[in-house]
Amino acid sequence: MPTAAGHRAITTASMLTAEGGLELRPRLSEIPAHVGVIMDGNGRWAASRGLPRIEGHRRGLEALRETVRAAIDFGLDYLTVYSFSMENWNRPIEEVTDLMGLLKRFIRNDLKDLHKAGVKVRVIGARDNLKPDIRALLVEAEDMTRANTGLTLIVAFNYGSRQEIAAAARALAEDVLAGRVKASDIDETLLAQRLDTAGLPDPDLIIRTSGEQRLSNFLMWQAAYSEFVFLPMHWPDFDRRAFASALHVFSERERRFGGVTARGQADKVKS
Ligand code: FPP
Repeated sequence: MPTAAGHRAITTASMLTAEGGLELRPRLSEIPAHVGVIMDGNGRWAASRGLPRIEGHRRGLEALRETVRAAIDFGLDYLTVYSFSMENWNRPIEEVTDLMGLLKRFIRNDLKDLHKAGVKVRVIGARDNLKPDIRALLVEAEDMTRANTGLTLIVAFNYGSRQEIAAAARALAEDVLAGRVKASDIDETLLAQRLDTAGLPDPDLIIRTSGEQRLSNFLMWQAAYSEFVFLPMHWPDFDRRAFASALHVFSERERRFGGVTARGQADKVKS
């Protein structure tokens, strides 16, 4: 099943600036509509410098800011960032508190600027076990930016893909019990409409930093046909240049969505 947004038409943009430096703006042909990012390695970044883990998360927040700016400049339509997983509750309480504090800081300090830049914020993940002040901030971010038409920034917070799919299955079961849906009508579309990501296109590309090569309960349904780029750097070192290079790698991938390639078709016709 192809993604709704897919790959843009090819136009050219010089990779060299007038001064002869490297232009860190990817070619339009390299820009996927939707990128998901697993921001991994904050703890290792800090440990390798003899710093506390929270310092890694603080620097991770700076990298997140730069990534959002770059996504706007590059012309992405959707950026999903994995900022707190349901499994992250298993961390020491001090670290969980620090991460909650960083989310609050991000929304309180950056929301106005994001709004000015036309960013539409959407939050995916469970809300019921979050503190009321955090829930209120998430609602404020979504409400303030609802009508914006620029980049959609999807913050996966208190998110887990298995839990999201289980909740969608539960919602469908309730619809069947209430007579709103026939069990025999249940298909991919009806289930996808009950996911937190309803209405969003699937990610074209998922980037994960820190050298780990796994999804860790991130967008497992939605990533069925995503391309993956795994980078060795830890998240705090991720910047515009790394983002541009991941987009370049993506642009060289051939996506078939379970079908055959144009070249594969041509070979078949010839043989
Ligand atoms: C993974 O690194 C990162 C996280 C669990 C949190 C990501 C948070 C940020 C980038 C800061 C911004 C935060 C919010 C909430 C907006 P890790 O701690 O698992 O690193 P490690 O695997 O090296 O220990």
